[in-house]
Amino acid sequence: MSIDITPSGEACGAEVRDVDLSAPLSDAEVEDIRAAWLEHHVLSFPDQPMSDDDLERFTLYFGPFGDDPFIAPIEGRKHVIAIRRDADEQSSLFAENWHTDWSFQETPPAGTCLYGITIPPQGGDTLFANQHLALQKMTAELRAKLEGKMAIHSARAPYAKEGVYGDADREARSMDIQPSDEAYEEQLHPVIRKHPETGEEAIYGCAGYTTGFDGMAPMDSLALLGELLAWQTRDEFVYRHKWRENMLVMWDNRSVLHRATGGYEGHARLLHRTTIGERV
Ligand code: SIN
Repeated sequence: MSIDITPSGEACGAEVRDVDLSAPLSDAEVEDIRAAWLEHHVLSFPDQPMSDDDLERFTLYFGPFGDDPFIAPIEGRKHVIAIRRDADEQSSLFAENWHTDWSFQETPPAGTCLYGITIPPQGGDTLFANQHLALQKMTAELRAKLEGKMAIHSARAPYAKEGVYGDADREARSMDIQPSDEAYEEQLHPVIRKHPETGEEAIYGCAGYTTGFDGMAPMDSLALLGELLAWQTRDEFVYRHKWRENMLVMWDNRSVLHRATGGYEGHARLLHRTTIGERV
């Protein structure tokens, strides 16, 4: 039986059924999932009771594990982190800024897998913004400002010791975030780049980790970043994902931005996450 894929009808995203992720997948199933992932950019798999072993096995069908800095893995695992918020937690929401995972790395992860374990009764949706679509619909004027530009990516704002998740934040936060001076390192990536597997152009990177543009004055960079962010995240490019327990979501970091949302005060939220490294 082949897998069943239902597009969200929004800017990206599809739901996948008729596959059991708690058991090894056939080559045909992996190929179908890969093709759907490249086409829809965000796939959700509802009703999939999965262990961390299952999550790791699924991840490795699509590439090696990514390198996940700054957040300690859960006990007994090297490649699984917990996206966690306790019911009474007062820290700022984790990952609330639009971003694509670890874009400050030389070779950022191709994708991310996130598995819902404890899901609040309301709120806690994840938003995804389709960056192929955002580029296709971009005005010629904005595109001309971005064409050929290299963006500077850095983890400084969130993960430096004085950053948002820095030393002053650690006590209030249930997630084991480990800020470090490595967060000051910078990496350049083209703002408009071809998806390494499909060749389709997309906007890459966004406010969360982009600090400016190479060779541009800081104030000019800031103004262009603001204009770009407003465009990239217009409602018409966004898919709002609603979670359920035992649901796996995988997304393509080369195609979409994402961000967490709140609205579940007084309720706990726990998800386990792996990243899919780029095949180089
Ligand atoms: C993440 O950015 O990995 C977390 C997204 C979320 O918590 O919804």
